[in-house]
Amino acid sequence: METEAGANVKTIIEPFRIKVVEPIRMTSRQERETIIRRADFNLFRIHAEDVLIDLLTDSGTGAMSSLQWAGVMKGDESYAGAKSWFALERSVRELTGFEQILPTHQGRASERILFELMGGEGKIVPNNSHFDTTRANIEHSGAKAVDLLIEEGKRPTSRHPFKGNMDVAALERLIAEVGVGAIPLVMLTVTNNSGGGQPVSLENIRAVRRVCDQHKLPLFLDACRFAENAYFIKSREPGQADRTVREIVREMFGLADGATISAKKDGLVNIGGLLLLRNAELVRRADELLILTEGFLTYGGLAGRDLEAMAQGFEEVVHEDYLQYRIRSTEYLGEKLLAAGVQIVEPPGGHAIYIDAASFCPHIPPERFPGQALVVGLYRHAGIRACEIGSVMFGKGGQRPPMELVRLAIPRRVYTQSHIDYVIEAIGEVHAQRRALAPLEIAEEPPSLRHFTARFRELA
Ligand code: F0G
Repeated sequence: METEAGANVKTIIEPFRIKVVEPIRMTSRQERETIIRRADFNLFRIHAEDVLIDLLTDSGTGAMSSLQWAGVMKGDESYAGAKSWFALERSVRELTGFEQILPTHQGRASERILFELMGGEGKIVPNNSHFDTTRANIEHSGAKAVDLLIEEGKRPTSRHPFKGNMDVAALERLIAEVGVGAIPLVMLTVTNNSGGGQPVSLENIRAVRRVCDQHKLPLFLDACRFAENAYFIKSREPGQADRTVREIVREMFGLADGATISAKKDGLVNIGGLLLLRNAELVRRADELLILTEGFLTYGGLAGRDLEAMAQGFEEVVHEDYLQYRIRSTEYLGEKLLAAGVQIVEPPGGHAIYIDAASFCPHIPPERFPGQALVVGLYRHAGIRACEIGSVMFGKGGQRPPMELVRLAIPRRVYTQSHIDYVIEAIGEVHAQRRALAPLEIAEEPPSLRHFTARFRELA
């Protein structure tokens, strides 16, 4: 790392010191065997304190900084017009250029308001790839959610630098086919969580914007991981290296008419969300819904202390030493797994590494849940909790998702390199004995979102 002092040491360090620690409760393999059986082989049924390294999600699981905790003490809990609200509004205006900012308790609350206003029967909403809650909120409104990801984004081994890009020609075809009247807005998810945490290039956002302009369509960002996306633009896109991440972020948001944000990711907080809008009539109607279901316009379902922590989080997330550490440490995990012969979605994403469970478990067919077998194996062997994104999550009613993946999502500023080295070593060991991973069947499942509560049986 080229530091200001001129030292030329290559090791990238965590750009923070640790002031508060939370002990990890160690468990033995025998103990974990009892725990996983008692949980019917579903990792969502396990108590968090029985997990050694929790990679279930990067959402709301980050560590706050000393300044954020100081903000918690400063939180103004007034019902209306709290000082903490104005601090957040200022921070987000500076970052994004948006004037109209609505606070919500998390990302899906912003989505629910947006699609109640813009969705509805007969409507079609294109995106590079909709995240599950976005899709669910669109469908709940009666509209249809369509994914228009570029082909490279669907191939695990393609090394395209911006695998989150939208297929612009496919967008034009969709508009020609269904008519502009059927499309209330176009969305872009940055980074593309469902497709491996892959970024969208500035060039692609601009191209989608041009199509939207031609047809007078609004463009919205699902901007949960906007800072990670901007860092990828800076490091990979021709002509962007000399700009600051802040400048790139400003341009990304400047190209959009609105955005939904879960602050649980790049807001560096444990709870919170935002809805950004420009259209005055839309703002008026969104304000009404916000008051109806979230809370008054200056707190939106959050405590004053949460607003204060968010204001500071949105400042810290664009620090380039933080982003360099963040993106590099995820990449480190991905590279080491590839070197150990474990196929992942390449190149490594921003917030997570996605293991190709179908190639990890060639002896387990999709209907016997290779991803679930792997997450059970990782917990049993090393106490690691990961998330299946494959036939358990999406395979209801005999449907098959395109890939059987296991996501290792990295909480922000929580684990050190030795935690990650432990994960790498453990996955290598499970890989060496992967034929021992047992196929599973579902013993009991609810009518929807079965991955959260289903019970499994191992077929030895
Ligand atoms: N959009 C994207 C791209 C997301 O990744 C998420 C959440 C949401 C919207 C919804 O935000 O949870 O605050 O309501 N993703 C989490 C995950 C849950 O584990 O990937 P939320």
